[in-house]
Amino acid sequence: MCMRTIFKVFTIGMVLVNSGLLVEGQSAPQLPTSNQVRIELPDGEGKAQVQTLCTVCHDLERVVNQKKNLEAWQATVADMLGRISPDMEREKILISDYLSAHYGVGTSDVLTRLLSSLNSGDAAEAESLVRENVEPLRQELDTILEEMDRGFDELGRQKARYDVLQGKFFQFDTTWMPHEPAFRLFSSVTEYSGYLSHFQAKRLRVEGARHTTSADHFWDLQDYDQALREYSEGTRKLREAIPLAEAAGNLKLVAASLTNIGYNEIYSGNSGLGLDVYKQALEIAEQREDEIFQGMYLLNLGTFHLYTMQPQEALEFALRAEEMNAKIGRRTWHANALLNVGASYLMLGQKEEGHSFLQKALLKAEEARDRRSHGRILYNLALSHSLFGQTAQAATLMKDALEWYAQNPIVYNDAERTMLEYQGSLYLVGAYRKLNDPEKVEHYATQASALRGRDPQKLAAYLVDPHLNFLKWDNFKKEHGLE
Ligand code: HEC
Repeated sequence: MCMRTIFKVFTIGMVLVNSGLLVEGQSAPQLPTSNQVRIELPDGEGKAQVQTLCTVCHDLERVVNQKKNLEAWQATVADMLGRISPDMEREKILISDYLSAHYGVGTSDVLTRLLSSLNSGDAAEAESLVRENVEPLRQELDTILEEMDRGFDELGRQKARYDVLQGKFFQFDTTWMPHEPAFRLFSSVTEYSGYLSHFQAKRLRVEGARHTTSADHFWDLQDYDQALREYSEGTRKLREAIPLAEAAGNLKLVAASLTNIGYNEIYSGNSGLGLDVYKQALEIAEQREDEIFQGMYLLNLGTFHLYTMQPQEALEFALRAEEMNAKIGRRTWHANALLNVGASYLMLGQKEEGHSFLQKALLKAEEARDRRSHGRILYNLALSHSLFGQTAQAATLMKDALEWYAQNPIVYNDAERTMLEYQGSLYLVGAYRKLNDPEKVEHYATQASALRGRDPQKLAAYLVDPHLNFLKWDNFKKEHGLE
């Protein structure tokens, strides 16, 4: 297969760390099976059930670093126990009650009374409660603001199906949104007038992320118009969040909202705008000397420059990302940064460097057990061997890549998996033809045509999908009347 075709499919092999939502989204959840951290649970009815049933698949840290109200705990527990057995009604009740008593929210007397007087419309009572309890209330509202971040990060770590994720967004709403009237009153009655905007900025950011995940989902279903509407709705919410976050002095939230906007813009075909916004986010992270966010933003900037075929810029960011993520010890991001460095070098025609960074990337991905980048690295390594004219090695690695994708279906979306399988099979047809192995030529030709036959329309759409190949945006925009 000729080089041009190789480079056409090249960008599939790269990784994007941060959708609006996913902070560590690229790594599959690693669930330790034994209790690595000993957690002492408070005594109470239900404790024993938590200790036995909730440690089957993960340790208790996952459970106790959460705060949820009763409704949200009921939903989580039903979800979790439903995975082991359909009926455990008694256990569900015991465990939800226990967890909401010990890991609940808004349990303090003042806040509860405040919310109930607000709900019953007793404005005078609510106002005097606030005036008499400014400091304790302020501390509680601070806790809520922190817990919202924790809840959001937890959402970001989910590698769940779209419907599950929407359920979790819903839980997030039911847990936190009822507090908005308390924030509103507190801000208007006390000297701490910024609390309401801080709360609203966080709410808008979560709503923005929810639109982004919907957009990605619709895009996957090839409902592109609906997806584009969702991206722009998400952007609208996030644009609203920024001045509020600024007013509250929360620059981290400003940067996070900007990144989410950048993602929406880039995936709506506005790369220039998206990259600018990403750079603003990076500047904020640099000012704040926040190395974790720098590591993430640098990685994303490298990735997007690769997607948009700007290898020189991509290389600069990828090298910086490599250094930063090595420093902060984020192995998954480090593996991805190495992949981007390798891919940038290959695009620049520097084969040796490219190849050697891809090999480092593979080792790092193995060390980090990062299943997602692993498959992409194998694919790129295969391509790099073929650049050296080492067809036999290239074919072996391509076979490994195809197997990897087949064995890890849940970590790749349908578009990436299908395209990789298809382009990989076509590549192998060419490679085995060169290697004079007619049997294998036959095998992979059959595989490719089976893929074509399975759902020709879907495959045809993937072949012009600009999310898989950014060079296709111009055509896509013309067809969808975008410009
Ligand atoms: C069958 C395996 C399994 C069992 C049993 C299990 N969990 Fe989980 N849990 C998971 C997995 C997998 C995740 C990762 C996220 C996901 O898949 O939703 C998770 C994530 C979580 C989370 C974080 C996500 C969220 O929804 O907030 C919490 C909290 C949690 N589990 C609580 C519990 C509790 C409480 C129990 C006991 C009632 C329990 N788990 C039992 C598999 C399990």
